[in-house]
Amino acid sequence: MATAKRRSPAASKKATGLRQGLATYGDAGFSLFLRKAFIKAAGYTDDALDRPIVGITNTFSDFNPCHGNVPDLIESVKRGILLQGALPMVFPTISIHESFSHPTSMYLRNLMAMDTEEMVRAQPMDSVVMIGGCDKTLPAQLMAAASADRPTIVLPVGPMLVGHFKGEVLGACTDCRRLWGQYRAGTFSEADIQQVSERLAPTKGTCMVMGTASTMGCMVETLGMGLPNSGSIPATHSDRLRIAEATGKRAAEMARTGGPKPSQVMTKAAFRNALTVMQAIGGSTNALVHLTAVARRLDIRIDLEEFDAIGQNVPVLVDLKPSGDHYMEHFHWAGGNSRLMKEIRGKLDETAMTVSGRTLKQVIDKAEMVPNQTVIRSARNPIKPTGGMAVLRGNLAPRGAVIKHSAASPALLTHTGRAVVFDSLEDLAQRGDDPSLDVTADDILVLRNAGAKGAPGMPEAGSFPIPMKLARAGVKDMIRISDARMSGTAFGTIVLHVSPEAANGGPLALVKNGDRITLDVPKRRLELLVSTAELAKRRKAWKAPPPHPGSHRGYASLYFDTVLEADEGVDFDFLGSAGAKR
Ligand code: FES
Repeated sequence: MATAKRRSPAASKKATGLRQGLATYGDAGFSLFLRKAFIKAAGYTDDALDRPIVGITNTFSDFNPCHGNVPDLIESVKRGILLQGALPMVFPTISIHESFSHPTSMYLRNLMAMDTEEMVRAQPMDSVVMIGGCDKTLPAQLMAAASADRPTIVLPVGPMLVGHFKGEVLGACTDCRRLWGQYRAGTFSEADIQQVSERLAPTKGTCMVMGTASTMGCMVETLGMGLPNSGSIPATHSDRLRIAEATGKRAAEMARTGGPKPSQVMTKAAFRNALTVMQAIGGSTNALVHLTAVARRLDIRIDLEEFDAIGQNVPVLVDLKPSGDHYMEHFHWAGGNSRLMKEIRGKLDETAMTVSGRTLKQVIDKAEMVPNQTVIRSARNPIKPTGGMAVLRGNLAPRGAVIKHSAASPALLTHTGRAVVFDSLEDLAQRGDDPSLDVTADDILVLRNAGAKGAPGMPEAGSFPIPMKLARAGVKDMIRISDARMSGTAFGTIVLHVSPEAANGGPLALVKNGDRITLDVPKRRLELLVSTAELAKRRKAWKAPPPHPGSHRGYASLYFDTVLEADEGVDFDFLGSAGAKR
């Protein structure tokens, strides 16, 4: 009938497989005919095209060596899908690598999230497997999954194996920064740094310390968005291919049953569980920003005070770099994230549902109990008695700042010092190593205009180097305060994500050389010891930095016009939940 043939795309919403989401030609029957005619050019039969469809994101890129195993994972996921009688369809999305993204990978995270969301929405698929791993990719995919709300399983690519150099175990990228610091200080030779560059990242996969990629792998499991163990199996191990096959099988089941959807898995309880695990693993500070962005997509607010309170009750139990001694492959062989959750199960909501179809309780019950392992400690014998991160407030950070105190120098956690201010990353590059710089080890280094708008892209510059003359004199750590982020693999007494950022006129913009600043982590305070009247005077005189070159057009224009602060996840203001207003 003509009326049936002319159904609008809206009327075809309940269609499945190839029949859903037709291109708009004003004639649904013609749209489906045309779609089939074109896909048959690839040799598909009607039998194949009548199956439920599982999309698979292809994030392989020559510019993303962390994702080097993606082609193998795709083959295994496909096998799992076919074994369940569904049809796999692979499609490309943006892929982002930390060191191949200018100005920063964070600048592009929201673009990847938008690309992934829209491609999932636009193309006919009943469920989707999102394969990611390098720092910003899992966050972008979780954000996309939350917004598209189509049944989704996330499959991390897995961590790389450790490297070795002169009898020492190397980890990317905790040792990247440590050894580069020694090279800068003149205690590590040119030949050695050259050889280290060939051994720091010895296999495909993501950084193998508890940095952002590993933390987000654990978050994927804890949120219930990936299968158990999928966050920690090494990238190059055959188990990684088996879990890819299992992921494909489960995605095919989800394509048939239509669920669970991300909004049914990533609930308030699931996010609370994730924040609890983040503290217990001594996770990356970046993950807090990312989880905030993902939760915002679902109208769930991550409360920084709640996160801090969780940390005061949850010990760090995982002995991994940079807070401890081991690496992700050791964490995996000790039982991984499920085993860790077993140690803190009393603090988790075990009724939370996971994409495996099991509750978190059922996942935890099945955790592998490895005898005599020393990587995942018990609560009676923790690495640190309280969580890895703390939230600071004060007149220098009215909307909050974060410190990873598990990776800081205990002696500096309560300290008052003189501010030495760098106005931007360029200023830091020009003056940071100047032998005439007026700086001592007791001073507090302040870097501003390095936030989401200021830099732009909130670079991982918060753990900026100790001034050369002090580094050469043996100073290993100083308090550093900024509106930047830092790599989850970094070490030091580093206050990050100061909000509001300086480029938006936050108090960080008002600090002057010689001002005194108090950091008091036990009391969660960050105070600029300058009178309110003086600060008001400085605010009156403050001028916003000039626009960045190129910021008037394209993606940059969208970014600068709409990007939010760190405490809101650095997402774009228009990408909240479906019902949210800008
Ligand atoms: Fe890709 Fe570290 S650079 S995870």
